[in-house]
Amino acid sequence: MSGFSERVLLTGSLGFLGSSIAERLPHVSGVRPILTARRGQGDGVLPMNLHSSSEIHRIFREFKPHVLIHTAAFTDVDGAESDKKRSWVENVEAVRILIEACSPIQTFFLHLSTDFVFDGLGNKPYGEKDPTHPINYYGYCKRKSEELLQQQRRFSYAVLRSCHIYGKREGSVLSPRWNIFSLSLKHLREKTICGLVTDTKNNPVWVEDVTTLCLRVIERRLHGIIHVGGERALSPYDFGRSLANYMGQGSEGIFYPISQKTLNRQALRPSQTELSVLRAKDELNYQPTPLEKVFSSLLA
Ligand SMILES: NC(=O)c1ccc[n+]([C@@H]2O[C@H](COP(=O)([O-])OP(=O)(O)OC[C@H]3O[C@@H](n4cnc5c(N)ncnc54)[C@H](OP(=O)(O)O)[C@@H]3O)[C@@H](O)[C@H]2O)c1
Repeated sequence: MSGFSERVLLTGSLGFLGSSIAERLPHVSGVRPILTARRGQGDGVLPMNLHSSSEIHRIFREFKPHVLIHTAAFTDVDGAESDKKRSWVENVEAVRILIEACSPIQTFFLHLSTDFVFDGLGNKPYGEKDPTHPINYYGYCKRKSEELLQQQRRFSYAVLRSCHIYGKREGSVLSPRWNIFSLSLKHLREKTICGLVTDTKNNPVWVEDVTTLCLRVIERRLHGIIHVGGERALSPYDFGRSLANYMGQGSEGIFYPISQKTLNRQALRPSQTELSVLRAKDELNYQPTPLEKVFSSLLA
């Protein structure tokens, strides 16, 4: 991306993934980042609420972005079950408005989606062309948002479907939430007991790897659905034990195996959603960072 400055508009700049992208974007040559968040903080982050069509259109008219990276979403999987209206507005309706805003200026739209668009009943890693069948409302809304992009023909887009994303930071800046690394580390450090699920499995991916792939997608303008995941499939329990082993600490007395059912959560989780990352490897030279290397970096 050289020669001229591309205006790259980011939504959810204070979220877990969004804040990682926001940190890296200013260092990408030829890019002028336009950072937005629900509650812009006056430190270079503009307020843009996904509920406000007029605010979105105003910002697009003002900045005319060449690229949109859309990470903002209602990501509380159980919350989406109890507040379906909010999930629909923030995960589907917002994408419809953003498509409207991108259309006249043909902004390249990079949308973030999830492995939860699958039902998890398959016995091999899911490819981009496999049929989707979400089993919870969050997955249903994310699939609907993908369809909105696939149905329009006015501009080029990419949908990056990710497995569980982990890293040091605990969720979004304003509403912290555990990920499997931060949760496991807390219990290992504090030596407190924690049940981890054994009957769901995907290939969890380091937030830095997802960020790198987002930057490659927008640089190369890769079109269509792309899967991103880590190097191997693990259950949350496997992940916790791998971290304990890496730290030279036994997990006995800290992690104990539980099934999804015992958690009694509002939303069902698909059991096996490992994503095949062959397309990302072939077309974007993607190499997931090996787990031990990620641990070494996160614990340094
Ligand atoms: N994290 C994962 O494991 C994972 C896995 C697969 C796919 N994804 C996808 O990756 C993307 C990023 O996820 P994440 O983990 O970074 O989520 P996150 O930490 O929850 O960040 C989402 C951001 O969206 C913002 N947002 C929500 N409603 C908004 C609204 N009405 N207006 C403006 N901003 C709003 C939130 O702002 P507030 O903090 O103000 O609410 C939050 O900062 C999402 O599309 C998600 O579906 C994530």
